[in-house]
Amino acid sequence: GGNSRKPFIAFVLGGPGSGKGTQCARIASDYGFAHLSAGDLLRNEISSGTEKGELILDIIKQGKIVPSEITVELIRKAMESTDAKRVLIDGFPRCEENRIAFERITGTEPDLVVFFDCPEDEMVKRLLGRNQGRVDDNIETIKKRLKVFESLNIPVIDYYSSRGKVHKINATGTEQEIFGAVRKLFSSLRF
Ligand code: AP5
Repeated sequence: GGNSRKPFIAFVLGGPGSGKGTQCARIASDYGFAHLSAGDLLRNEISSGTEKGELILDIIKQGKIVPSEITVELIRKAMESTDAKRVLIDGFPRCEENRIAFERITGTEPDLVVFFDCPEDEMVKRLLGRNQGRVDDNIETIKKRLKVFESLNIPVIDYYSSRGKVHKINATGTEQEIFGAVRKLFSSLRF
C-alpha cells in the first residue's frame, strides 16, 4: 500500500481447531483489522490449479507444513496489498524458519502475539465436527497436525514469550466466552 507507516501487527497462533480463524473474523470486524490467514492463502493457491497449488495440496493432506519460501512470499504479498493500519496474521509463523524469514523481510517484529490455548481432545472434537470438513480434517491427518504444532510452532510461541509479546487466551468454552477474553485484550491495546 501507499501508506509508509508501519501497521500494528498481531500474530494469531494456536493448535489446529483452537479457533484462530473464528476469533480472527470477529476481531477483524470489531476492531478494524485486516485478517490474513496463512491457511486461506495456501488454499487459494490450491484453487488456482497451478503446479505450486498441487504441491501445496499434497503437503496439506499429509498434515505437514508447506516450505517456508512459499508461505512467507504469500504473507509478504498479502501485507503489501493491504492498506490496513492493523493486521492479524493467522497461522503464521508456523516454525522458526517462518519467523526468521518474516523478521528479515519486513525488518520488524509483531507488536503482539495472541496464543489460543486449547486442550488437544477439544481441538480434535471440533475438527472432526466441522461442517464441510476439509481435506485435512480426518483423524490421521489431525494427529500429524497436532504433532507438527507441538514440535515446530510451540518453539515460536516460547521465543515470543521470552520477549514479552505473548498474550495467552484460554480457548475452551463457547465462541462468545472466548471472544469476551479477546475483547478484554483488544480493548486495552493502544494502537
Ligand atoms: P490452517 O488453515 O492454519 O489450519 P489449522 O492451524 O490446522 O487450524 P484450523 O483452520 O483448522 O483451525 P482454527 O484454529 O483456525 O479454528 P477454526 O476457527 O477454523 O493450516 C492448514 C494447513 O496449511 C497446515 O496443516 C499446513 O499444512 C498449512 N499451513 C498453514 N500455515 C502454514 C505456514 N505458515 N507454513 C507452512 N504451512 C502452513 O475452528 C475450527 C472448528 O471449530 C470450526 O468448525 C469452528 O466452527 C469450530 N469452533 C471454533 N470455536 C469453537 C468453540 N469455541 N466451540 C466449539 N466449536 C468451535
